[in-house]
Amino acid sequence: MDAAAAAGNTFDFGLLRRHPDIEAENLFAHDATDELILQEAAAALSAAGPGKVAVVGDRYGALTLGAASLHGLAGLRVHQDGLSGERALAANAERAGLGEAFTSMPLVPELFAGAEVVLWQLPRGLEEIAEVAGLIASHASPNVQVFAGGRVKHMALAMNKVLAEHFASVVPGRAWRKSRPLKATSPLQGDPASGFPKKEHHPELDLWLCAHGATFGGTKVDVGTRFLLEFLPEMRPGAATAIDLGCGNGTIAAALAKVRPALHVTATDQSAAAVASTAATAQANGLAERIEAVRDDALAGFAGASAELIVLNPPFHVGATVHAGIAHKLFAAAARVLAPGGELWCVYNRHLDYRGALESVVGPTRVAGRNSKFTVTVSTKAL
Ligand SMILES: C[S@@+](CC[C@H](N)C(=O)[O-])C[C@H]1O[C@@H](n2cnc3c(N)ncnc32)[C@H](O)[C@@H]1O
Repeated sequence: MDAAAAAGNTFDFGLLRRHPDIEAENLFAHDATDELILQEAAAALSAAGPGKVAVVGDRYGALTLGAASLHGLAGLRVHQDGLSGERALAANAERAGLGEAFTSMPLVPELFAGAEVVLWQLPRGLEEIAEVAGLIASHASPNVQVFAGGRVKHMALAMNKVLAEHFASVVPGRAWRKSRPLKATSPLQGDPASGFPKKEHHPELDLWLCAHGATFGGTKVDVGTRFLLEFLPEMRPGAATAIDLGCGNGTIAAALAKVRPALHVTATDQSAAAVASTAATAQANGLAERIEAVRDDALAGFAGASAELIVLNPPFHVGATVHAGIAHKLFAAAARVLAPGGELWCVYNRHLDYRGALESVVGPTRVAGRNSKFTVTVSTKAL
């Protein structure tokens, strides 16, 4: 029996919701990894002093609220890259009466400073693992115990290698319900200046791209985006403002601002890493005055009927699951925020038939270009 069970504490994972993230039958608010991490960490959590526990990568609050509820913990420090996960945690906490148990924070040294226990739903990206592991190793207590885990199908030995660059001990545990735990201890003191955001020059676009670990595509130019950029001169000529929706590393925002000197661009993404990366990209290209990077979920904080031009390369994953819901959510968001006559430019895989949806949600939609892999469309908001 673990420490929490011995104390009679319970937590009902079934009460968690994903909202405001997409909810659907094949999408879940928690998985076996959450329970496994909490089981593995039970003794350490029971022994942890107040304010000594950090949580990173929690999806919708299962780790944070599970730890708070099962072990009566307060003062948890939590970082989630996605804003919808952060908002879901807040809403789940409110319902569970645990709103005071934690503080949501950016991915900064203070998140881990002096932490004795870290709970971590491992991401799939090695760069994100490297950035987080480096921060933990440099700033947590030398005695820190990191309880990480993931779905077996999403884990690779390369992850252990990255962790081993930052911890002298990385020990995989026994898999349970298709999830596997990893425990990392004995942090190796690295360079506290982490090496992030990374930076790469792309001579063909004459642009620097910067990326924190969790950013879609890293410092690369996405292939779909590369095709979309061919249409920049056609995008609402004369517009004074534009929105790069789902900005990632800021490629679209920076390319737009560079070729259209009169344009002010607002770049927005729900990923904290993407927003920080876009701000760094703007800075690296001398465009910081003309690009504003804002963390927001699907333009929720933008005024209706206010935008002249929105440019979008929509995601087709929700977490690790391929799901069209997120693209449709962003189309609806663009439709609300576009002013009459405003344009939404979109690029998507050729096999995805988004044109009908764009036509009904936004307005008349023309295919501006197609190549072997991608379609580029422009939808105009009705006057
Ligand atoms: C396919 S990537 C494109 C990134 C970048 N624009 C590029 O061209 O490389 C889609 C982006 O949408 C972002 N995204 C996903 N859901 C979002 C939401 N609800 N609100 C805002 N951005 C979102 C992702 O974080 C990701 O950065």
